[in-house]
Amino acid sequence: MNKAYRTSITTHVNGRLYVYGYDLVDLAQETSFAKSIYLILKGNMPDKNSEKMINSMLTIAIDHGVEPPSTVAARNVYSGGSPLQAAVAAGILALGEYHGGAIETAMENFKKYLNLGTKVMLNDFNQSGKRIAGYGHKIYETDPRTQKLVSLAKKFGFLGKYVKFALSVEDVLSKGGKKLPLNIDGIFAALLLEMGFNPKVGKGFFIIARTPGLVAHIIEESLREKPFRRLTEKDVEYDGPRPRK
Ligand SMILES: CC(C)(COP(=O)(O)OP(=O)(O)OC[C@H]1O[C@@H](n2cnc3c(N)ncnc32)[C@H](O)[C@@H]1OP(=O)(O)O)[C@@H](O)C(=O)NCCC(=O)NCCS
Repeated sequence: MNKAYRTSITTHVNGRLYVYGYDLVDLAQETSFAKSIYLILKGNMPDKNSEKMINSMLTIAIDHGVEPPSTVAARNVYSGGSPLQAAVAAGILALGEYHGGAIETAMENFKKYLNLGTKVMLNDFNQSGKRIAGYGHKIYETDPRTQKLVSLAKKFGFLGKYVKFALSVEDVLSKGGKKLPLNIDGIFAALLLEMGFNPKVGKGFFIIARTPGLVAHIIEESLREKPFRRLTEKDVEYDGPRPRK
């Protein structure tokens, strides 16, 4: 067979839809949204504890205030007069390697260095001068979301080799006296590995979790704010040439 598209996710049989073999209509009645997200990203049903873990992860990342780059981008694009879908897309485009988009890289790192050990990992990164995905935070010395997820991981049976490794790196990681905590991307990476997800899921997982927050911010922007956000001159430092002929 040589058809244009191949998929193993969803099919139609006699007018009904089946996601990985499960009747979608039955899923709508019997499963939570978190469970369905696990199913569609992984191809199998989570057990009770995996469902609870995934649900906590999706919930804890749903929003982080108006300040992060993705929220500012979404609200500003809406404020320029573009429609909601453009503003959501703008917010998602801001989820890069420094903000919400570090999970895939962190998963690859944890897989690579699990057996090589913390010392080798830190040596390699020290030599390359690159930032270690999943560590550091603008405002937290210890990320309360990470702490909560670690305690839930213990409760639900996911405090395994990847979470322990991620924490062992956090224990020794600092820069110029500043602690670089295991951040939400880092703990997501470790937990997704514990649950057997492919690293390719990483970026998408954060997008799925944060999109409801972005939509909420855009709706709030539309209901409460005037169009055309603009920085004032006092927010801007000009250091180019003075007026000249
Ligand atoms: C999240 C992040 C942007 C926050 O940065 P910040 O707290 O403002 O830190 P700064 O950019 O001021 O960096 C301070 C120093 O720490 C270093 N640093 C910060 N995060 C680092 C990391 N993860 N690994 C190694 N060094 C790091 C910087 O290189 C800088 O070093 P320098 O002073 O020698 O130039 C940063 O920690 C980072 O890039 N982390 C990796 C990406 C990541 O996990 N993103 C997800 C965030 S939830």
